[in-house]
Amino acid sequence: MEIKNIKIKNFRNYKELELNFNKKINIFIGNNAQGKTNLIESLYVLGITKSHRTYNEKKLIKEGEDFLKISGIVKNENTKKELEILISNKGKSVKIDKNIIRKTSEYISNLVVVLFCPDDLEIIKGSPSIRRRFLNIELGQIDNNYLVHLNKYNKLLKNRNEYLKQNNERTIEMNFLEVLDKQIAEEATMLYNKRIKFIDELNIYIKKIYKKISNGDIIQIKYETNVDVKQEKLEELILKKLKSNIKKDLLFGTTTIGPHRDDFLFYLNNHKINEYGSQGQQRLAALCLKLAEIEIFIIKNNDYPILLLDDIFSELDEKRRCSVIEYINKGIQTFITATDINDIKKNILKNSDIYDVKEGIITKLK
Ligand SMILES: Nc1ncnc2c1ncn2[C@@H]1O[C@H](COP(=O)(O)OP(=O)(O)OP(=O)(O)O)[C@@H](O)[C@H]1O
Ligand SMILES: [Mg+2]
Repeated sequence: MEIKNIKIKNFRNYKELELNFNKKINIFIGNNAQGKTNLIESLYVLGITKSHRTYNEKKLIKEGEDFLKISGIVKNENTKKELEILISNKGKSVKIDKNIIRKTSEYISNLVVVLFCPDDLEIIKGSPSIRRRFLNIELGQIDNNYLVHLNKYNKLLKNRNEYLKQNNERTIEMNFLEVLDKQIAEEATMLYNKRIKFIDELNIYIKKIYKKISNGDIIQIKYETNVDVKQEKLEELILKKLKSNIKKDLLFGTTTIGPHRDDFLFYLNNHKINEYGSQGQQRLAALCLKLAEIEIFIIKNNDYPILLLDDIFSELDEKRRCSVIEYINKGIQTFITATDINDIKKNILKNSDIYDVKEGIITKLK
């Protein structure tokens, strides 16, 4: 896929911006705090409908303004669609070809972005919630149905947790809870199955890519759940566990088992990478995870996602730079930011449009 252009109004430090993109490489050079990441973020928001930097969407609106708008035309092999995101004090609206789309699941696969940024290391080192967020966003982009089930599951879970908080062992109505639990177990089974499959696929590619770049090290992702997901009758097992945990759940006022507590951990040569791996090995794991994700997308869709490379070249050594550049050279549309143009290889500069970013104004240099 390819994004032809972007129009931005009142996003972060941009008042008004309109750019037509090169279908190969677009490079944005500028000093610190000029708006490079903001531009990458605007593309990410247009694709995912959420920011990778903040949960508070009001922060995305330019200071002193009361709404923001991002729109762009996305071209696939056979289709051309205009995507639009509007965020104001009243909330967010999402449109395709001027029609309001109410379900994110119907929107999110139209512009698939894969972002590389220095914060990726957090996927390896950070809390389980960061890894779950990664899983949800990436699976959401390649499988529309995943988000439908995730939304259902989250709503049911919220109801269950509220009910647990309002009741105790004497007041609880088991019949009511059983009906709720049955629906929860159904959705949880769907989520577990989709996550198992995705992690299995990630493992195939990440192993291959990591081994190649590192000269032989073996990396593996292990999916960690509090339910034995390998069991055949998974839905029944979840239901049983929900029932047997009810005393604990009432005590804590929350549901203690289920996919909302999932995690996945990285092992390097059979050791946990966050305890054993060097900083460089952890960075490489994060990089290979993203490269594996691209492979899965290509196989599933017979198309490329869009690559967003925010400030990553200065951190990567030559070999790692080359493994990213390999994709760029295959013809994947890429957006690169850097403070110093010398961090970008000459052969990449050849095929690119180059822009200068200064105080929220972007000027084309080449
Ligand atoms: N809502 C907002 N309204 C106005 N300006 C904002 C808003 N949010 C962030 N900014 C400004 O945007 C600028 C940061 O832009 P950005 O993060 O894109 O920098 P950058 O060019 O990527 O810099 P670096 O090289 O340091 O990563 C800061 O000056 C910040 O004050
Ligand atoms: Mg930045």
